[in-house]
Amino acid sequence: MIYADTVSAPRRFQIAAIPADGVGKEVVAAGREVLDALAAGSAGAFAFDWREFGWGCEYYARTGRMMAEDGLEVLKDVDAIYFGAVGWPGVPDHISLWGLRLAICQNFDQWANVRPVHFLPGVRSPLRRADDTELDWVVVRENSEGEYAGVGGRNFAGRGPGGEVGVQSALFTEVGCERIMRFAFELARTRGRPKVSSVTKSNAQQYGMVLWDEVFKRVARDYPDVETESVLVDAMAAKFVLHPEDLSVVVASNLHADILSDLGSALAGSLGLAASANLNPEGRFPSMFEPVHGSAPDIAGQGLANPIGAVGSAALMLEHLGLPEQATRLHAAIEATTTAGVLTRDLGGTASTGDVTKALIDALSTRRG
Ligand SMILES: NC(=O)c1ccc[n+]([C@@H]2O[C@H](COP(=O)([O-])OP(=O)(O)OC[C@H]3O[C@@H](n4cnc5c(N)ncnc54)[C@H](O)[C@@H]3O)[C@@H](O)[C@H]2O)c1
Repeated sequence: MIYADTVSAPRRFQIAAIPADGVGKEVVAAGREVLDALAAGSAGAFAFDWREFGWGCEYYARTGRMMAEDGLEVLKDVDAIYFGAVGWPGVPDHISLWGLRLAICQNFDQWANVRPVHFLPGVRSPLRRADDTELDWVVVRENSEGEYAGVGGRNFAGRGPGGEVGVQSALFTEVGCERIMRFAFELARTRGRPKVSSVTKSNAQQYGMVLWDEVFKRVARDYPDVETESVLVDAMAAKFVLHPEDLSVVVASNLHADILSDLGSALAGSLGLAASANLNPEGRFPSMFEPVHGSAPDIAGQGLANPIGAVGSAALMLEHLGLPEQATRLHAAIEATTTAGVLTRDLGGTASTGDVTKALIDALSTRRG
């Protein structure tokens, strides 16, 4: 994969685990178990040194902070970060998100967020076409600016009760647009169908999104071998449902890609399936791997969480660590598990998080050697 850094470190990887909140704790525990089983079967070829951090909403309730004050300093030298999900009732979502996940993504300049939309055997998709068409695409999300730049303000207190105003701006820089687009084009070149679809809204947003379109056109000229299209975000939502076979790499702004990747994972069968990688492609900082889903308070603590999104994220982490064959083995174990019908409730099954984890580990050992 083009987004894998080459790691020259010894094959003992220092991994920071941040399960955070709700089902994040369950799926990170499951992912760790699977990764440790993989390492245990490697005859000492590689191992993971885990360091777990209990940051999140409970930590906030105790300390008033979502992570330790020196958290970024502590994390900056690990080989990778394995993240669960953040957010819990009682802590405003913007506090929990900005205090932990976005604090890490933005300070570690993890500007490329890769979110594959992967259809699995044995999982029923709500899409009619999924039965007879091969569907597989990747959403590449600009992860450092756009609508999540945190630019704006409130508290026009002089207007009095009921008169308050909130301003939320989106920040688009030529550098930010260009790097994510080049990343998308390079990724497209590694795929069966080299095509990049750019998601825009330049009809309504005449500054930032027009810049986005201009940069896309300019960058595309350097990749004449890659097919391109530019699609309004509303039309792209429809295209995900009606013509998903026409997609390969979809590059979009922070907010657009966030929404579209949830749609993609729902179309693949469940939000619980979707994996993601927050990459600092230059390797200046550690990258972070996490399922796309949130903390799912409605099912947390009941053993109902689907761990496949987290385990798929672990596979992305293995690629990043320079272990692509192990990543392939993990994908094969996921497919064997869904093919065998070991499915959690979100996929119409009755298996628990633990049952799926065990099936994944069994599938790994069956395929060993
Ligand atoms: N990356 C993140 O950390 C992240 C992402 C999205 C939302 N959140 C936070 O999570 C909290 C809940 O948000 P939400 O309900 O909008 O989104 P959510 O992703 O937590 O849940 C949406 C729906 O998907 C289901 N779901 C999610 N993960 C699942 C899994 N692994 N297995 C089975 N079903 C699963 C939930 O039960 C729920 O019905 C909020 O505090 C929100 O801010 C965090």
